[in-house]
Amino acid sequence: MSELSYYYELADKLAETRDLTDEEFSSLLFFRNPQFAEYLSQKARTIRERYYGKSVYLRGLIEFTNFCKNNCYYCGIRRGNATAERYRLTEEQIVTCSDSGYALGFRTFVLQGGEDPYFTEERIASIVAAIRKRHPDCAITLSVGEHEEESYRRWFEAGADRYLLRHETASKAHYERLHPQDMSFTHRMQCLKTLQKIGYQVGCGMMVGSPWQQTADLVADLRFLQEFQPQMVGIGPFIPHHDTDFADQPAGSVELTLRLLSVIRLILPKVLLPATTALGTADAFGREKGILAGANVMMPNLSPGDVRGKYLLYDNKICTGDEAAECIRCLSIRVERIGYQVVESRGDPAGF
Ligand code: 5AD
Ligand code: FES
Repeated sequence: MSELSYYYELADKLAETRDLTDEEFSSLLFFRNPQFAEYLSQKARTIRERYYGKSVYLRGLIEFTNFCKNNCYYCGIRRGNATAERYRLTEEQIVTCSDSGYALGFRTFVLQGGEDPYFTEERIASIVAAIRKRHPDCAITLSVGEHEEESYRRWFEAGADRYLLRHETASKAHYERLHPQDMSFTHRMQCLKTLQKIGYQVGCGMMVGSPWQQTADLVADLRFLQEFQPQMVGIGPFIPHHDTDFADQPAGSVELTLRLLSVIRLILPKVLLPATTALGTADAFGREKGILAGANVMMPNLSPGDVRGKYLLYDNKICTGDEAAECIRCLSIRVERIGYQVVESRGDPAGF
């Protein structure tokens, strides 16, 4: 059997059984061959189209604070970065963002921010309730890090439907090399379980090619996804930020990110899979390539113009100078060019 046909069989097996052995997963992830990449993404597209057709869901991202009490080694808004220009949006500004997003056709809002103690349980609950009241037909997603179960419950009751908390890496040892000692792998995983138990649609995810990541770590990520069964998985290449400990580390590979998107689509057929801004930053056509590899979500920025350039987790982030309306026009055209279509929808998981 030729090398290529061995890999084609692996892809067929993955599409049929949604599973491979650890050895098979690692050899498949690290086989760099354009013909095989096309074969794998064709499989992923077939599954994606079975559940989502040619639709691409949009989420309006509101980056409402870049203050953060954590000091993750990879992240540009970590507390130790004294040169980051900090900002907070007011409740009124956040609600206004959701109104203008609604007018533009968004039916999902993602409130994302650093772990900013100013935004107490109370304040976040009040913002969620305000948006819930004005836009009863929209999904509200929170992405504000690790909190107490009580807070997660309160926000759910106030009207939040979804929560994004990337696990970053499913290997404890690797997690500890990406984060300072005051952050705990076990606590993060616990938060994910709590969110799921409360009834949120939960999104987890990891960076691809973060410093010291090994093949075995990515296989551990895939095993974690199979076990946890999240509704959404956000992945993007690691991109260095000049004011972090990892400034001189190499960026993650776009090709590996694309192969992983296809593999994730095959192991979790109905998952919501964004073609992330990091992917679009690492490659001018990264988001289109992501859609073609099996992704079905995009998350353009709705934050006001004057703060867009300040939510910088990594260098050279795209779309920081564009208005939300321009991004939507641009994305719609980009998506149509590859044969897909942006739709106005909450974009719940298939069958939800
Ligand atoms: N490169 C790529 N992704 C990053 N994130 C944070 N810093 C970086 C970086 N330097 C990702 C993390 C985080 C999400 C909001 O952004 O996975 O959970
Ligand atoms: Fe923002 Fe193209 S998506 S300008």
